Amino acid sequence: MNLEVEEILRLLNEDFVMELEASMIYVRNAFVIPKCDPSRVTEAISIDEMRHMNWLAELIMKRGGKPSMEHKELDFGGDDLRSQLEKQIALETDAVERYKRQIEMIDDKEVVGVLKHILDEEKRHRKEFRMRLERIKQ
Ligand SMILES: [Fe+2]
Ligand SMILES: [Fe+2]
Repeated sequence: MNLEVEEILRLLNEDFVMELEASMIYVRNAFVIPKCDPSRVTEAISIDEMRHMNWLAELIMKRGGKPSMEHKELDFGGDDLRSQLEKQIALETDAVERYKRQIEMIDDKEVVGVLKHILDEEKRHRKEFRMRLERIKQ
């Protein structure tokens, strides 16, 4: 039983760090993207990722853990809009795959409920970034 909670805490902390990294990358890219629409979308999505951090931190604290702030060196996806959007799409895909796996693995109703909600939003984020990438390819 204890081990199980520890394993869930480990996963939730990795999720939290992933959300932290995504939110910082999007905040920075929203500043440097010169075009108005993709910049605004990236800014709005950075705020979604911070909400995800909040929800995960609550789950972590409730289970006796503390959220980890130990993020890796950030990769912003380069200096042009196309490569930034490609990077952002890749980050969303990583999140989608990760949350899907965890929803299958974790046997905790409350955690799974939150992860499903986050998963839906990550899918929507990926769609938003893909639409902007399609537009600049035309
Ligand atoms: Fe997120
Ligand atoms: Fe996202």
